[in-house]
Amino acid sequence: MQYPDRFAALPAYPFPRLRALLDHHPAGGPALSMSIGDPTHPFPEFVGTVMAKHLAAFGGYPPNDGAPELIEAIGNWLTRRYGLTKFDAPSQVIPLNGTREGLFNAALALSPERKNNAQPAILLPNPFYQCYMAAAQAAGAEPVMVPALAENGFLPDYASLPSEILGRTTIAYVCSPANPQGAVADAAYWAGLLALAEKHDFRIFADECYAEIYRDAPPVGALQTAQAVGADPERILVFHSLSKRSNLAGMRSGFAAGGKGSIAQLKQLRAFAGAPLPGPVQMVSAAVWNDEAHVVQNRALYAAKFDLADRILGNIAGIRTPRAGFFLWLPVEDDEAAAVKLWTEHGLRVLPGRYLANETHASLGGGNPGQGYIRVALVAPLGDVERGLGVIRSSLYE
Ligand SMILES: Cc1ncc(COP(=O)(O)O)c(C=O)c1O
Repeated sequence: MQYPDRFAALPAYPFPRLRALLDHHPAGGPALSMSIGDPTHPFPEFVGTVMAKHLAAFGGYPPNDGAPELIEAIGNWLTRRYGLTKFDAPSQVIPLNGTREGLFNAALALSPERKNNAQPAILLPNPFYQCYMAAAQAAGAEPVMVPALAENGFLPDYASLPSEILGRTTIAYVCSPANPQGAVADAAYWAGLLALAEKHDFRIFADECYAEIYRDAPPVGALQTAQAVGADPERILVFHSLSKRSNLAGMRSGFAAGGKGSIAQLKQLRAFAGAPLPGPVQMVSAAVWNDEAHVVQNRALYAAKFDLADRILGNIAGIRTPRAGFFLWLPVEDDEAAAVKLWTEHGLRVLPGRYLANETHASLGGGNPGQGYIRVALVAPLGDVERGLGVIRSSLYE
């Protein structure tokens, strides 16, 4: 049997790699996972009631482009959150089964086969959410990894790429707040990237699925900046999710929003190949986007964990706790050795940073910028997080 070549360069996914690294060692203490960003705070209680009320909708095919109630709720949320004024939700929003499939499928729908007579390039921050790389390969593009380093505020400097690459770029992924570093793109970053996208005629895919997990000010959005600087909304697609905002990762609900042309193209592909959100899930999602009280509570739970991180790790040289997201990105001498030590001596699982990154593009000097970091998820209950961070401090930094 033959397999396609285009996915041959995909490495093993980070979590099987972690299992291969750790599972042949016994845990050195009661097992505690801080490796996977699986939210564990409660989701809103009304989810069950709304689901039950709309149960009958499981009996029929759901609307592909979203029930009017859902589209309206998403439009209202975007308007409330980002102050969008000229936004038309029915033509500018498409519901998704979580952002992951949208981040993947939008590249298929929107990256052309050739650009300027060459293979297209799709730009990725490095380290990055692994879906972006598979999306680029599926679309027949070259994934170009651009390092997101401490000296650039952990955001990729796409303008530093040679014009040969920018000239064939079709899509640039940006994650803000970023997984894994928690970096937040400000309006100046988005405006600069919008100008670059206009100059070189590419789209920005703004993965904003952590937008509601922040400590002080709400992160500015890509669409919000596009509106503020009068940019063409076709330059941007933003991706949002209920997985982190509302602790509903298992329900699979999110959306993409952007220019009418891009959304129409996505709807066209999904009409043939997409799986629409089940009807009851659409109605629950509408109710969840309409409610902010649970989001405020969720944020407060994460803020308490970040305060704990400040208290336990804050005075260690080189450690910064981020303003958003729910990960710590901690510098260590050897990320794999640190993960093995924490597991074998204490039963604590963290993710070596190199598993979330790939080889940076040769034109930018190569290397794996995740090497020398561990990613620590603050999703476990507060007492577990306290224990885990104490172990990290004593085991790696004292
Ligand atoms: C950066 C980033 N983007 C997208 C996703 C996908 O989230 P979902 O598909 O649950 O919306 C995740 C999930 O962990 C993520 O960390």
